[in-house]
Amino acid sequence: MTKDAATNVVPEGVELVYDGKTVELPLVEGSEGERGIDIRKLRAETGLITIDPGYVNTGSCSSAITFIDGEKGILRYRGYPIEELAEHSTFLEVAWLLLNGELPTEAELAEFTTEVTRHTMLHEDFGRFFDFMPKNAHPMPVCAAAVGALSTFYREANTDERVQKAIVRLIAKMPTMAAYSYKHSIGQPRMYPRNDLDYSSNFLYMMFGNPCEAFQADPVFARALDLLLILHADHEQNCSTSTVRMVGSSQASLYASISSGIMALWGPLHGGANQKVIEMLERIAREDGSADRFLNRAKDRDDTTRLMGFGHRVYKNYDPRAAILKTTCKDVIERIGGSSELLDIAMRLEEIALSDEYFVERRLYPNVDFYSGIIYQVLGVPVNMFTVMFALGRLPGWLAQFLELRRDPANRIGRPRQIYTGATKRKYKPVKKR
Ligand code: CMC
Repeated sequence: MTKDAATNVVPEGVELVYDGKTVELPLVEGSEGERGIDIRKLRAETGLITIDPGYVNTGSCSSAITFIDGEKGILRYRGYPIEELAEHSTFLEVAWLLLNGELPTEAELAEFTTEVTRHTMLHEDFGRFFDFMPKNAHPMPVCAAAVGALSTFYREANTDERVQKAIVRLIAKMPTMAAYSYKHSIGQPRMYPRNDLDYSSNFLYMMFGNPCEAFQADPVFARALDLLLILHADHEQNCSTSTVRMVGSSQASLYASISSGIMALWGPLHGGANQKVIEMLERIAREDGSADRFLNRAKDRDDTTRLMGFGHRVYKNYDPRAAILKTTCKDVIERIGGSSELLDIAMRLEEIALSDEYFVERRLYPNVDFYSGIIYQVLGVPVNMFTVMFALGRLPGWLAQFLELRRDPANRIGRPRQIYTGATKRKYKPVKKR
């Protein structure tokens, strides 16, 4: 007997013995051979639930979008190795792939590119939304608020056709919203998007152009940005993606779900780590440039300092995205004809950490955030925009996961259980006699 093609259930089940009763639980197997115990009937048959803080061992869904083998350092979008996509594709091509499951034909890519390009402008009234934000506001919550506010301008996407429109709209408008939030923070006029530029060059133009002079994005920088976006495009069920799915499971709108994902990404243990990495490298440079001293602090259990950009819940090997970015980092620095003290410190930190017992034992390797910040800095992106860049890249992944959830007949509203540890029933005593 082989695996059931519709349910992925394999013939060998798992037996759980509890309270003198044996319960058989099905085993499901994915296309890469990973197996999981389907516990859906566990509570009904035993009264038990499972406990798994941080969902370390819990599969929340089946997904055909991204495959990661963290032990081997493998990442594939829809079956395509990240290294090949990084070398040969563009961000919009990858976005299409994630959303549709297949690479686009030339005609499909041309049509998708035109659609996205023609939707980059924001409604003039919406442009004013940014004027009401404090100048020193962090651009992440500004972007999250802007994405949420799109639902006040556009009708709720409650049919497949409208969802598709909303997807194009979001991919098109996110760079404009991100650039507007930056322009607002530095008090410069907003730059309208340009339809003659590719996705990444247009973003660089809206960020760094101004009405007083001509601006031409450096093609090496535009390609580096496109590559960064590709590498961030999806990463299966991480914190922000699970948030998008959780919010979407209540049938909240696409904009509400993505806005929540942006907020979840902001945390320093997730997308916010790229900002923290550069702050860490700058701090080391400011102090005495000693990578060794900093690493000792990161290893000290009495010190809360962590080596930011290192370690990953899933990768117990070199993050393949970090390997690609390390090379890109050297390329962009070469392009500006210089050296980078921060890159030197980062490489020294990596070298020591990878042979240090503490990091080796715990299998801590550089992750995607370790080198990305240095590239953003060379491109001129301010530090507080780094996580917004991550969000720009992750958007197609969030959208693909939202679509998959919407189409999944097994989708139910996300609603975990808990083990209650609070007070048992007690009598209420009024604080004040009435
Ligand atoms: N520096 C020092 N020690 C670390 C680090 C680090 N960066 N990461 C993990 N450890 C230690 C941790 O103290 C623990 O040690 P012990 O077993 O002695 O208590 C052990 O390694 C396991 O760590 P954990 O926190 O239980 O692992 P986790 O899977 O819960 O957390 C992580 C994963 C990414 C949050 C964590 O490695 C971390 O905080 N890294 C730094 C922040 C960072 O770079 N985040 C970006 C992640 S990649 C982008 C994304 O996908 O979001």
